[in-house]
Amino acid sequence: MRTRLIVGNWKMNKTASEAATFVDELRQHLSKVPSDVELVVAPPFTALESVGRVLGSESFIQLGAQNLFWEPKGAYTGEISAPMLKDLGCRHVILGHSERRTLFGERGDRIRKKLQAAFAHGIRPILCIGESLEQREAGSTDDVLAQQLHESLAGFSSETLESLTVAYEPIWAIGTGRSATTEQAVAAHQTIRAVLSATASPVIAERTRILYGGSVTTQNIASLLSSEQVDGALIGGACLEVSSFATIISLASTTRSIGV
Ligand code: PGA
Repeated sequence: MRTRLIVGNWKMNKTASEAATFVDELRQHLSKVPSDVELVVAPPFTALESVGRVLGSESFIQLGAQNLFWEPKGAYTGEISAPMLKDLGCRHVILGHSERRTLFGERGDRIRKKLQAAFAHGIRPILCIGESLEQREAGSTDDVLAQQLHESLAGFSSETLESLTVAYEPIWAIGTGRSATTEQAVAAHQTIRAVLSATASPVIAERTRILYGGSVTTQNIASLLSSEQVDGALIGGACLEVSSFATIISLASTTRSIGV
């Protein structure tokens, strides 16, 4: 049984002090957080320290980063390494987000190296994959997902992949208010699990959490999580307000699987 995972991706929002206030309020809202949902917030790099300080090391809210660079240190102006994140208490890192792919030219091999750095330093990567609207309309969603998984995961042992999380994020659904339907998400998750089974192992495929991301709201979270294929959500816009994020978290903890 995979524990549900809800991740808030703050993107380039909130200063360090705004972020600290936000998690403090969120924690108060969630004083009765259930044990059946894991919770991660991924603030910008500049707010990791202030958020980590408010949360403390024992918090049920875990700290995640939105990116890293694969080298541990050196002359890489503007970059942040896995050991730097680890030192701040980061336990997760989002990699290969479509905004990084489209705006910053991240491709397969770069993402693979970043995954390698995360695995090597004990930070759990959340690998984002997803198709464009054009690719979906051309009927190539499954091929795109398989290719993105293959190029990012090539060469990793099954043991290494044990700490992997995958986020299915159709590009056309991110920040658009147009979420995938539950059926579309379930179909994509089934494809991803089948590719993981063939390329890593059936055990890894069974264990790996696959999140859905793309215009998740308080309105659609229950439906998306109604399938046992969907192990949680990666949330952008709706995680920036305490009340909507807290509602999503509580819905995630009470939504029962109907075994689609
Ligand atoms: P959104 O973003 O929830 O605002 O669509 C999701 C994401 O980019 O991870």
